[in-house]
Amino acid sequence: MSSKTDGVERARIAILISGRGSNMVALAEAARDGRIANARVAIVISDQPNAAGLVKATELGIETLVVERRGRPRAEHDREVVAALQTRHIDLVCLAGYMRVLSGEFIEAYRGRILNIHPSLLPAFPGLDAHQQALEQRVESSGCTVHFVDETLDGGPIIAQRVVPVLGDDSVESLSARILKEEHQLYPEAVAMVLSNNRSE
Ligand code: GRF
Repeated sequence: MSSKTDGVERARIAILISGRGSNMVALAEAARDGRIANARVAIVISDQPNAAGLVKATELGIETLVVERRGRPRAEHDREVVAALQTRHIDLVCLAGYMRVLSGEFIEAYRGRILNIHPSLLPAFPGLDAHQQALEQRVESSGCTVHFVDETLDGGPIIAQRVVPVLGDDSVESLSARILKEEHQLYPEAVAMVLSNNRSE
């Protein structure tokens, strides 16, 4: 991991969001509190100028950047994001409610260093509406998954998962709330694990 502060190697994390940003806050607080050792969230990037998470990131003292798609081709938009990451010497990219599929070029630039969190037990229920899919399939349990991002949709190698029960009277709201609570624990743990594996390689 690249940057040094006071003699300590600190991994520089970028978080990409499109909305609320509660997982971003969980990661930033975990890095700040040392639950993700020797790491800091260096930047939060949003493709949505009105993402609520941008305000939360600013309150946490984190640099924010908006890179809007503005009707441009995906590859062009991603090139601007990747340039921003490279300028800041980012080691690890965490997608947290980022509602865009990444271009092959982006994935190639950070292969093995892009993580995502998804609100189901992958490979079950990839894509949008994971909670709705779980309810429609009447599964007895669901959960969340942190995985590496590759060219497949929510199909990259799985890093960690947490299971929650699905109750008979669950709505999308009640199930999402139960899963989100676990996401906030799981994502920092998974990031800490990936960084410590990278260091010992
Ligand atoms: C989370 O449920 C995450 O699993 C999914 O999008 C949602 C983002 O929520 N990818 P937040 O913006 O982190 O609050």
